[in-house]
Amino acid sequence: MFEDHFGPEIAQSYDESVAEMFDPAAVEPAVGVLTELAGDGRALEFAIGTGRIALPLAAHGVAVCGIELSEAMVEQLRQKPGGRELPVTVGDMASTSVEDTFGLVYLVFNTIGNLTTQDEQVACFSNAASHLEPGGCFVVEVGVPEIRRLPHGERHVVSRGQRPLGHR
Ligand SMILES: C[S@@+](CC[C@H](N)C(=O)[O-])C[C@H]1O[C@@H](n2cnc3c(N)ncnc32)[C@H](O)[C@@H]1O
Repeated sequence: MFEDHFGPEIAQSYDESVAEMFDPAAVEPAVGVLTELAGDGRALEFAIGTGRIALPLAAHGVAVCGIELSEAMVEQLRQKPGGRELPVTVGDMASTSVEDTFGLVYLVFNTIGNLTTQDEQVACFSNAASHLEPGGCFVVEVGVPEIRRLPHGERHVVSRGQRPLGHR
């Protein structure tokens, strides 16, 4: 079983701590793509968290289910409008099964990186595949690292917080 890094304290402040990811400018394009991919089918979110994407996707008429490791994150989801209606199974996305198959399984916000070994990530893909209907798809959203952040000959970069200095 994986360690839960999203306990009650983190879960309570999660939405605020990543407020820019709740901005419509971040949410709407993702929800648009996922709505299109889901078509008339159902969707399963791995690591559904507090419902940042699942709730607006459900509001677009897509039937969404979730798998989530942290009970505290699910509790936050449950407190939001529509959050009690989403079926969520508490468990590890690399091994937890839900009854049903889906046209779309998705995993956003770099969360594949919470599985820190290749074996775990392969298991996650295999778990996604086992929930997909024929022709369905598994969407994984990850940031694409810059090919080269350091000027030639440099071996480090000074940074503050998450952004390199000079980046606003
Ligand atoms: C960065 S949050 C993303 C939450 C949500 N998908 C979003 O976009 O806001 C990462 C989430 O992954 C969950 N998580 C981490 N490892 C997991 C695992 N092995 N199985 C299921 N959920 C996991 C955490 O509990 C947390 O809710």
